[in-house]
Amino acid sequence: MSGVKPPYRIVFMNYPARVSLGHYPTPIEKLARLGAHLGGPALYVKRDDQSGLATGGNKVRKLEFLFADALAQKCDHVVTLGGPQSNHVRQTAAAAARLGLRCSLVLRGNRPPQRLGNLLLDELLGAKIHWSGARTRDEVAAEVMTGLRQAGARPYLIPVGGSNGLGALGYAVAMGEAIDQLAAQKLAIDAMVFASSSAGTQAGLVLGAALRGFKGRVLGISIDSAEAELKVRVTKIALDAVKLSGAGIAASELAVDVNAGYLGGGYSVVGDLERDAIRSVAQMEGLLLDPVYTGRAMGGLIDLIRRGVFAKTQTRRHDPSALFATPARPASTAFQVHPPSPASSRTAS
Ligand SMILES: Cc1ncc(COP(=O)(O)O)c(C=O)c1O
Repeated sequence: MSGVKPPYRIVFMNYPARVSLGHYPTPIEKLARLGAHLGGPALYVKRDDQSGLATGGNKVRKLEFLFADALAQKCDHVVTLGGPQSNHVRQTAAAAARLGLRCSLVLRGNRPPQRLGNLLLDELLGAKIHWSGARTRDEVAAEVMTGLRQAGARPYLIPVGGSNGLGALGYAVAMGEAIDQLAAQKLAIDAMVFASSSAGTQAGLVLGAALRGFKGRVLGISIDSAEAELKVRVTKIALDAVKLSGAGIAASELAVDVNAGYLGGGYSVVGDLERDAIRSVAQMEGLLLDPVYTGRAMGGLIDLIRRGVFAKTQTRRHDPSALFATPARPASTAFQVHPPSPASSRTAS
């Protein structure tokens, strides 16, 4: 279902510079066997894991705007923060390598005994890793920025998850891309369901939905925050994106819809919800979801379908519901997803 070429129909007054890092549009695929098994609405997946750049993922769209800003400011080094298995830091390291900038990563906690998954890739991609230990990542990142400036570098700080107004524009554009792809296939969807954590993805989707008059739900499954807290974060980032882009959207036009009912044991704690969803999608669709984000979001979507929230009767033309999936295979190797284990497994986050 690809074939829609940029520029996508998203109207900004100011269009901030963007470097090209990804392969777009990412395909939309039908999850026919999973949809039939659940007996609810038709399911489609937007394959943002196919965005290219060191196994792809959902940060590439944000990084296209953030690296353009870094280059415009003549920066030669990027610094960002995350957990040891962060997809965002791996994609930042890859973007820096591609564009010839140096990269420093501030990761939470202490160096684990084994380098697995994204951590292994961060080092392979040439990033320098700083462990925050018992200190906050923000404190360590500020120190790293100061040290780099003193050494004569021009560092650029990218926030956790690439989630600020500028990064969120990547997902406003993504919403336009998805709407155009669906329209080309004569499909109307009732809901777009996805993982929401540092809030930039949802902020962008909500802004894109308002700009394009999308009528369905744009539902973020919270990965690690209470509903009210996440809604405030999404709204703030979306309004920052409005300001930057001159998008002409008022706060009242932003439909910020969050479900925080699937937090389980907390961030990166893989429980039965995630394990069952990952196994079902792997075995029915041959699609690999990541354990922290899309595993949890898909677990939530499956549960909501089972509860009748997205019933067949609610549907319009083709009754689909869509999931923005950004599977992240590298992290899967660092988590115990399969085979099932009675106890939840946790890796440092
Ligand atoms: C695979 C995947 N999906 C979804 C998200 C959530 O995006 P955001 O942090 O912008 O809310 C992330 C964040 O790292 C991710 O890695």
